Amino acid sequence: MPDRLPVGVLISGRGSNMEALIRAAADPAYPARIALVLSNRADAPGLATARAHGIAVEAMPHQGHSREAHEALMTARLHQAGVHLVALAGYMRVLTPAFIAEWPDRLLNIHPSLLPAFPGLDTHARALAAGCKLHGCTVHFVRAEVDAGPIIAQAAVPVLDDDTPETLAARVLREEHRLIPQAVTWFAEGRLRVDGMRVRVIDQSSRSSPPATSVTPKHRPQRAR
Ligand code: GRF
Repeated sequence: MPDRLPVGVLISGRGSNMEALIRAAADPAYPARIALVLSNRADAPGLATARAHGIAVEAMPHQGHSREAHEALMTARLHQAGVHLVALAGYMRVLTPAFIAEWPDRLLNIHPSLLPAFPGLDTHARALAAGCKLHGCTVHFVRAEVDAGPIIAQAAVPVLDDDTPETLAARVLREEHRLIPQAVTWFAEGRLRVDGMRVRVIDQSSRSSPPATSVTPKHRPQRAR
């Protein structure tokens, strides 16, 4: 079997999206594997979840470090683990442009709204307050601007009349758990093409000669194409 794409996951809390990735990658046919989970909070519940699945984890608290120094530690650890793609799954710190530049189109984030609507926090309450009839989640490549960047995939859910932020969040979260493994699959299969703010998902059959804008294979010579 060819090597699977090594993915690093950054978390700060519960880690349910991380667990969705871990569960997807438990299937040997899944094209990626979770090489490392890093948390900037030592008390993140997701660390125990990942450990229980036998995944390498590390708490890297940011306290006592400058933002740059903390990120440099994370970068070094991710490289040491052979990570090729970094997934932000509830990582609650803003990253510097230097960290983002370290992972060009190899850094993705899951956000609980249909971007560009509702970047930032409290997305479910804000969608309710705005009277949205549809809400959802987005997986996107990370750019220096927070919750912006080329959109890889989105999923929408209906907003119901009796929704609270909690019931709406639960409906969106079910979609998040489906969406992030899907986006990582497309990335690992070399099927994503970034053109400015647009991301195309190409057919597997047209994958044989990726153009210069291909975001997957060039740092991953070990993976059979
Ligand atoms: C998710 O809603 C995700 O979209 C957002 O933060 C939340 C993290 O939840 N970025 P979990 O830690 O994955 O359970």
